[in-house]
Amino acid sequence: MASTASSGLDRILTLELVRVTERAAVAAARLRGRGDEKAADQVAVDAMRSELNRLPINGVVVIGEGERDEAPMLYIGEEVGTGDGPSVDIALDPLEGTTICAKNLPNSLAVIAIAEKGSLLYAPDVYMDKIAVGPGYASGVVDIDAPAIENIENLAKAKGVPVNEITACILDRPRHARLIEAVRATGAAIRLIGDGDVAGVIHTTNPDDTGIDIYMGTGGAPEGVLAAAALRCIGGQMQGRLLLNTEDKIARAAKMGISDPNRVYAMEDMARGDVLFAATGVTDGNMLSGVKFGRDSIQTHTIVMRSSSGTVREIKARHQDLDKF
Ligand code: FBP
Repeated sequence: MASTASSGLDRILTLELVRVTERAAVAAARLRGRGDEKAADQVAVDAMRSELNRLPINGVVVIGEGERDEAPMLYIGEEVGTGDGPSVDIALDPLEGTTICAKNLPNSLAVIAIAEKGSLLYAPDVYMDKIAVGPGYASGVVDIDAPAIENIENLAKAKGVPVNEITACILDRPRHARLIEAVRATGAAIRLIGDGDVAGVIHTTNPDDTGIDIYMGTGGAPEGVLAAAALRCIGGQMQGRLLLNTEDKIARAAKMGISDPNRVYAMEDMARGDVLFAATGVTDGNMLSGVKFGRDSIQTHTIVMRSSSGTVREIKARHQDLDKF
């Protein structure tokens, strides 16, 4: 039986979730490197939606493909699941990094997070300023309002390394020119990424493998909530602030219950309670391998985790029933 919201989410759901991201990743991966972002995104959306509708949940998409008038499927407010099961909030991105997938570059993912109803931040599709570090640091080691030099120096001190051994991950965008200059002036290195800041944030949780210690800069708010959900499970710290710089954006946010446009959200404000998170690699990346198509099988690589237990599982699956995909 599925559990009620008050006793946390059913643990079986953790594994059920893997199928959801696997299906979306395989669908998108068939269109890797074809230069068609929209087509890859559409097949991932279709696949994720049909698999999601088999899950025994009473789900509502709170972070999805867009607001209702602009996204026909998996829009914010869409009800998904069989309807028999716990009432949950769902944040999803069937293809995070559409351009990366279209160009067949590293780190595009199919991603989903599920939490008890009312536990995920309902964020409009605007930008969010973000800062994140992995686990093992004292609370407040970095602060979204502190200058870059202070954050980098505090992190280096806490890690016990010179500043020039710190690497920050930043989206390669003209809007980050000043941030990039400020970080470089400290002596720290920067990993500039073309897209995919959910992966960018998650990479801070394993600097030994990914080479990334801190994520900084502005990306999508939906991706911010998804990244916060992942960090709630693996550990780490993250802060975000929505960029509500027009009357229209302030009004859209207000409709979603956001009354303070300047509020800084801690990780726990963006994803509370028991959270499940799953991501399957579409293209090869630092953390997850991309989908591999063999003659008789398809291989997928997924990370799935749960905040209440802190369990992080990696599932490498070989699928032989190819009719399912
Ligand atoms: P899509 O998957 O929607 O293409 O998003 C990719 C992405 O790089 C996100 O990871 C990031 O948060 C956002 O776009 C940044 O937005 P922009 O490309 O407008 O700078």
